[in-house]
Amino acid sequence: MVAYHARDRSSAAPSVTRVRRITAELPDRDVVEEAAALLREGQVVAIPTETVYGLAADATNAAAVLRIFEAKGRPSWNPLIVHIASVDDLHTVARDVPDLARELARHFWPGPLTLVLHRSPQIPDIVTGGRDTVGIRVPDHPVAQAIIRAAGVPLAAPSANPFMAVSPTTAEHVVGGLAGAIPLVVDAGPTRVGIESTVVDLTTAPPQLLRPGGVPREALEALLGPLAAPTLASDGESRASPGMLDRHYAPRARVTLFDRREEAVAASLAARARGERTAVVTWSGPIPGTDAIVMPDDPAAFAARLYQMLHALDEAGVDRAWVERPPATPGWEAVINRLDRAVAH
Ligand code: TXA
Ligand code: MG
Repeated sequence: MVAYHARDRSSAAPSVTRVRRITAELPDRDVVEEAAALLREGQVVAIPTETVYGLAADATNAAAVLRIFEAKGRPSWNPLIVHIASVDDLHTVARDVPDLARELARHFWPGPLTLVLHRSPQIPDIVTGGRDTVGIRVPDHPVAQAIIRAAGVPLAAPSANPFMAVSPTTAEHVVGGLAGAIPLVVDAGPTRVGIESTVVDLTTAPPQLLRPGGVPREALEALLGPLAAPTLASDGESRASPGMLDRHYAPRARVTLFDRREEAVAASLAARARGERTAVVTWSGPIPGTDAIVMPDDPAAFAARLYQMLHALDEAGVDRAWVERPPATPGWEAVINRLDRAVAH
């Protein structure tokens, strides 16, 4: 067990963050019980899921959920996803569940798909930002499932990063952002999917794709037919999924997407000559004679390493990064969405 102390946080409670390692395949009961006990007491705990690490609290306890917002510095109008251990628990968090939701659950749960449904009275306003709907998913991770079951309550959990920062795919990322603000991080190693769940609103007809993510659009459209884009309010903010159009997932480095590698290399060299730290990131293979970072050319494999790469830029003190624009094909939709947000400074 490792303990980290707060660096410069002025907020009260807890000032020491413990990190407990756990094996994903065979979750250690002691660690699961420690996390569950804190959650039952109304504390927050960072837990692994297959997408990113989540900052969990008892979704039925408004005071506990408030601690999530405090730790993240997140505005409370941005609703949270509620995590349950199995589709059998859906009725405890949602009401008027349409057959379509059960069909999607059969195909994609456990997995990186969040369904927005009408909320049950058990779910307090603070979870949903006062909406009548709630986002729900069953994470495909044995540790997350074991902790939900041991806690005996649904868990509200956003990504375990400070508001607007890059989501964490390792316990080290969580500690880097939230040390001193939370009592416990359950460390099961790097997450498998690497980007957040796909969010689909089933309370509208046709259903709306609120956020592309771990489940590709084509897989959903094969069952649902064409998905609608989210409706935008006049200020450009998404009415259905507030927070989606914010600058999110951004590293400290200024990120530019490039199409032509020669131009990226030239711009990077020019910036280096001015004393800036730079990086060039490709997916189409190494750039001879440069130290370009080479990412996978498959979208799922790229996604699995995306946040790790953005965190690494920050750790290396990179000022400017040029990232090769992925192909505009459907499989890359979620990666392009996250890269666009990393660019928007
Ligand atoms: O993979 C994930 O989804 C991760 C892991 C921890 O499960 N969680 C995550 O949570 O990404 P968060 O809070 O960072 O993102 C939740 C997204 C936001 O875009 C939010 O606006 C949307 O889901 N959302 C949640 N509840 C909603 C609701 N009732 N209506 C519309 N959008 C909702
Ligand atoms: Mg997030």
